[in-house]
Amino acid sequence: AFFPYFWKSVCRSPLGMSRGQILDEDISASSQWSDSTAAKYGRLDCEEGDGAWCPEIAGEPDNMNEFLQIDLRSLHFITLVGTQGRHAGGIGNEFAQTYKIKYSRDGSRWISWRNRQGKEVIEGNRNAYDIVLKDMEPPIIARFVRFMPVIDHSMNVCMRVELYGCEWLDGLVSYNSPLGQQMTLSGQHIYLNDSVYDGAMSYSMTEGLGQLTDGMCGLDDFTHSHVYNVWPGYDYVGWTNESFLNGYVEIMFEFDRTRNFTTMKVHCNNMFSHRVKTFQKVVCYFRSELDWEATPISFSPVMDDVNPSARFVTVSLYNHMASAIKCQYYFSDIWMMFSEITFQSDTAMYNTTLAPPKTGPPTRDDPTHKVDDSNTRILIGCLVAIIFILVVIIVIILWRQVWQKMLEKVSRRMLDDELTASLSIQSETFTYNNNNSPSSVSSEQESNSTYERIFPLGPDYQEPSRLVRKLPEFSQTSEDTGEIQNVQEGVPHYAEADIVNLQGVTGGNTYAVPALTMDLLSGKDVAVDEFPRKLLTFKEKLGEGQFGEVHLCEAEGMQDFMDEDFSFDVIENQTVLVAVKMLRADANKNARNDFLKEIKIMSRLKDPNIIRLLAVCMSSDPLCMITEYMENGDLNQFLSRHELCLTFCFNCFSYSNLHHMASQIASGMKYLSSLNFVHRDLATRNCLVGKNYTIKIADFGMSRNLYSGDYYRIQGRAVLPIRWMSWESILLGKFTTSSDVWAFGVTLWEMLTFCKEQPYSQLSDEQVIENTGEFFRDQRRQIYLPQPPMCPDPIYKLMLSCWNRNTKERPSFQEIHHTLLDCGAELL
Ligand SMILES: *[C@@H]1O[C@H](CO)[C@@H](O)[C@H](O)[C@H]1NC(C)=O
Ligand SMILES: *[C@@H]1O[C@H](CO)[C@@H](O)[C@H](O)[C@H]1NC(C)=O
Ligand SMILES: *[C@@H]1O[C@H](CO)[C@@H](O)[C@H](O)[C@H]1NC(C)=O
Repeated sequence: AFFPYFWKSVCRSPLGMSRGQILDEDISASSQWSDSTAAKYGRLDCEEGDGAWCPEIAGEPDNMNEFLQIDLRSLHFITLVGTQGRHAGGIGNEFAQTYKIKYSRDGSRWISWRNRQGKEVIEGNRNAYDIVLKDMEPPIIARFVRFMPVIDHSMNVCMRVELYGCEWLDGLVSYNSPLGQQMTLSGQHIYLNDSVYDGAMSYSMTEGLGQLTDGMCGLDDFTHSHVYNVWPGYDYVGWTNESFLNGYVEIMFEFDRTRNFTTMKVHCNNMFSHRVKTFQKVVCYFRSELDWEATPISFSPVMDDVNPSARFVTVSLYNHMASAIKCQYYFSDIWMMFSEITFQSDTAMYNTTLAPPKTGPPTRDDPTHKVDDSNTRILIGCLVAIIFILVVIIVIILWRQVWQKMLEKVSRRMLDDELTASLSIQSETFTYNNNNSPSSVSSEQESNSTYERIFPLGPDYQEPSRLVRKLPEFSQTSEDTGEIQNVQEGVPHYAEADIVNLQGVTGGNTYAVPALTMDLLSGKDVAVDEFPRKLLTFKEKLGEGQFGEVHLCEAEGMQDFMDEDFSFDVIENQTVLVAVKMLRADANKNARNDFLKEIKIMSRLKDPNIIRLLAVCMSSDPLCMITEYMENGDLNQFLSRHELCLTFCFNCFSYSNLHHMASQIASGMKYLSSLNFVHRDLATRNCLVGKNYTIKIADFGMSRNLYSGDYYRIQGRAVLPIRWMSWESILLGKFTTSSDVWAFGVTLWEMLTFCKEQPYSQLSDEQVIENTGEFFRDQRRQIYLPQPPMCPDPIYKLMLSCWNRNTKERPSFQEIHHTLLDCGAELL
């Protein structure tokens, strides 16, 4: 039941305006001001021509007839759109303050998009350079999309745009169904109409798609909704048996072409206490060419009178070939309510193993087209499996080679060399395969973008912010504030309010800073001193990326660069360990700008438990930023080397040490949260250990291969620390201090198990994600991390409170810090 949420949230890839997969010939417009502002220049983040598409100015005030049209060549599920004005390196200053969107599946019937509250006009840009992203709620299923700027003649309008989503593999073009009805429940009206249907609605609904395909499953209680400020019953389309004397509701589904169907999944409400139940039987007819097949299939699900939760009922369609399906759903009680119907068919097979389908939509010659988004819900799982199998095969092959050669008594030295060479080639392609596309981003605004480019693993690491879904408790902040300052080549970053993502020391990821705070922080000058480069001695490479590297270095004379409040115990004239992040000399201007911004913000973070920016080398290339590094390395490695002092042993330390460390992490996080900074990847691997068990929070995780197993790769592009992430971060892409609190709970758990095992080590990545779905559904089926053997009860209680489903019920870092101090006193 949870899969569609997940799928929809990863269905946010750019469809190719900025990167060029959408060809010039597929971009057209109602008019153009000149050849250099033709439709083909309307590509987000591209500066070709005169820097944007600009229509010819003519006609009426409030002209709504100008449009920029994109033909995607096949049906797509569009979840997000991005717009930008004409900047042209500072010469241009035209942009669309508001616009509308029209879309079409067949190129002839055009539908005006409206948001869930029925509003058509979308707030656009406020300046010529920033990219503004808008969530499409409801999402659009279409092949053609038109951007229609509202032109009021107070200023000229130019646009650059991008669409985000994925291919619509269901292939459903329309469904025809009886109108949803109205229920009266203890005096309250429940409106079970299809609220976002885009076809014709008179006595029945025809030729459209709507609620049943919008990727949003209804809640268990149909009177409530995911969506804010709508009528009760919003999520469902429902019917009563009183209006259907033959006992069933018939819905006809039409598809883009003949498909080989495996299953249909129907998301049904089952609140039997209100006489709502899943259907008791479904009979489906298939139409392949022109005629309906005589023999239908029929299926009766097991009725569930125990569990009132909404669920997907899966109906096997036995590989029937059809271009239309007509299903009769039989009532089993007075009411029947559906929120989603999806079809699984042979698409993946057609796309990957056969030539382009004869009856299918035109396929592009461009081989790179839709490589990104052709992954289906099913493929997500398959890809992970395939990668895994490939790795296993490679290992086996290598192993066999080694073995054979040993038998052949080939010189041992040669053998080793060869093996190392092939292994390193393998690992390189695996790590960098998704990051080799040239960056074409020109971001003027503060953003995290650079470091995604600097560190190839960076963008993956950011992926969580792209997993966005809105559920009831969050939807207040939806449409109108869903604006993002910047887009990165992959998928854009989303934030409920203006959030600036700030990269941390080594570019893994890091703090998300509210734009407001960011302004306050970065307003002043950089308060960091220049460090003489020659006093740095290289020791070890900590991480590396496309535009930079992170080195572990020894620095001489660093004490002069540390102010009084510095809790860094340096003895005069001794060298100290520092992490040095360097920007390669050939990094582009944007990378440099972002590097400077990061320095500004890092320089404001001053807390004894947060890694500090010590100095910079800015006088010459490569630019460097020098941050603390702690002699004992990270907490994960540190703890793995130790054991608790229960019996006599070396390498052990007492519970109070552990406790002291946990309090420091809480204290550091308390500081970050007081600035509204969200860390996003709190874990023992990101805490550094110094003398006397001092702890400082950093953000190294992702740039190091050592911990790649802690991150989950989606579709080969996204990498998430899912075992540390709260349910809402995984399902909704929602990162807040409360999700940091969740991660703190997991970090605490790691510490009390001495990092001897990964969290949920008995679960596969997929199972961890499924478990997240259980947290969301909250039917007591979720699995919590177990109480570690040595863990005192109050500490485990604290962990559990961090994993509270309700974000508001999780403790704040202030409270956690307090609790830890109190517990400490008790336990000592
Ligand atoms: C569905 O019902 C609500 C409540 O009466 C109404 O406001 C809305 O316009 C209806 N939607 C459609 C598409 O008929
Ligand atoms: C539909 O797909 C199944 C499984 O892939 C296959 O066995 C069957 O032959 C296909 N049917 C047709 C008519 O192509
Ligand atoms: C509707 O369903 C209820 C419960 O199954 C049944 O008692 C009632 O007779 C049905 N009404 C009609 C008109 O079929």
